[in-house]
Amino acid sequence: MKKLFLVSVLGVLCACTESEPTSEQLPPDEQQGDFVEAQGGKADANGVEEASYEGICVLNYVNRADESAILDAVHDWPGEAIIKARRGADGAFGTADDVTFETLEQLDDVDWVGRITFGQLKRSAQESGFCVGIAEEYLIPGEEDAFFTIADRAVEEVEKKAAENGIAHRDAHAKAHGCVQASLKVEEGLAPEYRVGVFAQERTYPAWVRLSNGAFAIQSDLVKDVRGFAVKVMDVPGKKVLEHKQDARTQDFLFINSPTMFVRTPEDYIEFASKTFDGNPVSFFLSLDPREWKIRELTNLLGAVTQEPMNPLRSRYWSTTPYAWGEGAAVKYSVIPCDGETLDGRLGDEGESYLRDAMQVHLSQTDACFEFLVQRQVDPEHMPVEDATLEWSEELSPFVKVATLTVPMQDFATPEQDALCENLAFNPWHTLSEHKPLGNINRARRVVYDMVSTYRRTFNEAKMDEPDGFEL
Ligand code: HEM
Repeated sequence: MKKLFLVSVLGVLCACTESEPTSEQLPPDEQQGDFVEAQGGKADANGVEEASYEGICVLNYVNRADESAILDAVHDWPGEAIIKARRGADGAFGTADDVTFETLEQLDDVDWVGRITFGQLKRSAQESGFCVGIAEEYLIPGEEDAFFTIADRAVEEVEKKAAENGIAHRDAHAKAHGCVQASLKVEEGLAPEYRVGVFAQERTYPAWVRLSNGAFAIQSDLVKDVRGFAVKVMDVPGKKVLEHKQDARTQDFLFINSPTMFVRTPEDYIEFASKTFDGNPVSFFLSLDPREWKIRELTNLLGAVTQEPMNPLRSRYWSTTPYAWGEGAAVKYSVIPCDGETLDGRLGDEGESYLRDAMQVHLSQTDACFEFLVQRQVDPEHMPVEDATLEWSEELSPFVKVATLTVPMQDFATPEQDALCENLAFNPWHTLSEHKPLGNINRARRVVYDMVSTYRRTFNEAKMDEPDGFEL
């Protein structure tokens, strides 16, 4: 009902803020009745979203197709205008000043490019193989700049707080409920297509699991927040992706309590983080211009932060972003309590660290058990790699169990174990290449996690190497 209301408000507001051009203002191929913005400097990419499957098709095509193919796809003025823009100031193709469209907005700013042009480009891209396939990524030229901006700001933030507190905590997921000892037992009799990397052999690995709140600040568990679940599997042979940890015998898997991310691109993350630090995260999702509202992102975030878990060992978690699954395949991961039952809701007498308390009670009475599941990408359009705000449908591709993660009864809440927990570093890129992270959010994380964890561990004079067992 709320959603319906929002949609109708959006419809009304959009109708008031845009004025439709007359047919005389439109180039010949766009005089077709459907609303089209015909001039440059427009505010959006005509409904096609950055990092979406169709957005990637369009960008790939305008940047890589021959000029004649572009003119075949997009006739007359918009086609000519795209080619002119692509050739750069010297008007010649194949020279140093050629322009690559990095974003849909840049393309949308070209004169005469409108919704119909976007549709024509998408169709031609699909027909001629310019869209991404299964497990394929789309790298935006120069995207690393945004990754380093995120990392620099995160380190700055950690540095500032460390100067005040004398200890450097993580920039995100700063508060741990605890680190617990666990084991990961690979499922017996897995089909050959699931026997990949860590799951190739039927065996049991020792593991550490760190459970956390997602916030930048260390704050009460009563504050609405994303919750984290980070697994460090030990005794994993084989070269790892990060150069400085290539020979480590650990492998990390990171999860949060949401199947979807609340930012679509690293640029969005930068905006979200700065608005959060300014004390106004809502303005990232809802601005004065309704065309800029990020309703899906907001819904995703609310889906995670409104969960009110009773016990972090009784929640479901997802990798949210995709990972390679050997050669030419991609998956998302999830861990779910073995009996399928999650516990949400509060009794009303919870304290500031009630999630740690709930874990302590749980592990003083019984083991905790999670099924480790993977969901294969079977459709690159509806299960995209580059857009982590979209949930991969379990109807299109159900999750399959590949292992059992057991957390045996234990007393984890000791100062020594908390110290180890603080100084461990979990990183989605600390992995066998068979499980390489995919998509723009994950590519950003390759830069960010390393810089932040190196900074904080150096500041704390912590051990930089990986654990090889449960000794503290
Ligand atoms: C651009 C997107 C993201 C950025 C910039 C980011 C940033 C960070 C940073 C700086 C840390 C602390 C690293 C350290 O000091 O060791 C962290 C931890 C973490 N992140 Fe992210 N993150 C992003 C996306 C995600 C996503 C999609 C997930 C979904 C699984 C996730 C899950 C976690 C978890 C569970 C931790 C805690 C790891 C631990 O227990 O040590 N993050 N993140």
